[in-house]
Amino acid sequence: MSVPATELSATHPSDQPLLSLRGVHKSFGAVQVLQGVDLDVRAGQVTALVGDNGAGKSTLIKGVAGIHVFDSGDYFFEGEPVKVHGPKDANALGIEVVYQDLALCDNLDVVQNMFLGREMGPRVRLDETTMETRARETLDGLSVRTLQSVRTRVASLSGGQRQTVAIARAVLWNSKIVILDEPTAALGVAQTEQVLRLVRRLADRGLGVVLISHNLNEVFQVADDIAVLYLGHMVAQVRKDDVTRADVVELITSGATQRDGAAPMNGNGVAR
Ligand SMILES: Nc1ncnc2c1ncn2[C@@H]1O[C@H](COP(=O)(O)OP(=O)(O)OP(=O)(O)O)[C@@H](O)[C@H]1O
Ligand SMILES: [Mg+2]
Repeated sequence: MSVPATELSATHPSDQPLLSLRGVHKSFGAVQVLQGVDLDVRAGQVTALVGDNGAGKSTLIKGVAGIHVFDSGDYFFEGEPVKVHGPKDANALGIEVVYQDLALCDNLDVVQNMFLGREMGPRVRLDETTMETRARETLDGLSVRTLQSVRTRVASLSGGQRQTVAIARAVLWNSKIVILDEPTAALGVAQTEQVLRLVRRLADRGLGVVLISHNLNEVFQVADDIAVLYLGHMVAQVRKDDVTRADVVELITSGATQRDGAAPMNGNGVAR
């Protein structure tokens, strides 16, 4: 098995990825965290990003989001090479990240949280009624039915409802790619289902969704593509339907599958 990410374009000839990374490196001092990573994110698809603790998943998405700047490698958006040197560059491309801690303000209500930090430009001062309407429309558009009122303080919401607000905030800005870092890690069964349905709806609306998760059940439930990071190498990006859970577990834990007697590969498809 072991499909190197560099060969993936051949498996998706029809649609150009929204986002492509090629040969991305990132070190922190002497620690090489990402070593020649490739990734493709497509519109209308959920790409699951999996890998063991410390594999480099968060570092990779922080580079995509402009929080870290990659040391080297190429970053393409809609086929064009781009430079992303800060979060504003990523936002301008339509890339939003929902981090695990969510960064919601407990003492503010749903509307205030959804517009936080963006509402008060000197020229685009939105009034409360407009913000409330847009917040409601966004939540309705995502078929979110669990919030009684958009004027509820976030402090009184459940974990799943908070996740919903954070996701709705990310899609409020005509985003093209939404990246979710372990959105269900702290949720119970019913709330996890709710969030996964929302993740699927985002993709069905045409967004490119990246879902970081340690839970292979949910990965197999909602993902179209699975990208596996192993010690800073992207050892595979494959269609979900082309792999078994056992393959993915093996890729996560050893960086390769031995199913076809293939030699273990690094991120460039080179046998180690
Ligand atoms: N700012 C930093 N400075 C130094 N090392 C870092 C920094 N950020 C991450 N690392 C290191 O990079 C490696 C990858 O970390 P990262 O957080 O990307 O992993 P991860 O795949 O997201 O893991 P997890 O599943 O536990 O969230 C780890 O060894 C970590 O210690
Ligand atoms: Mg992480």
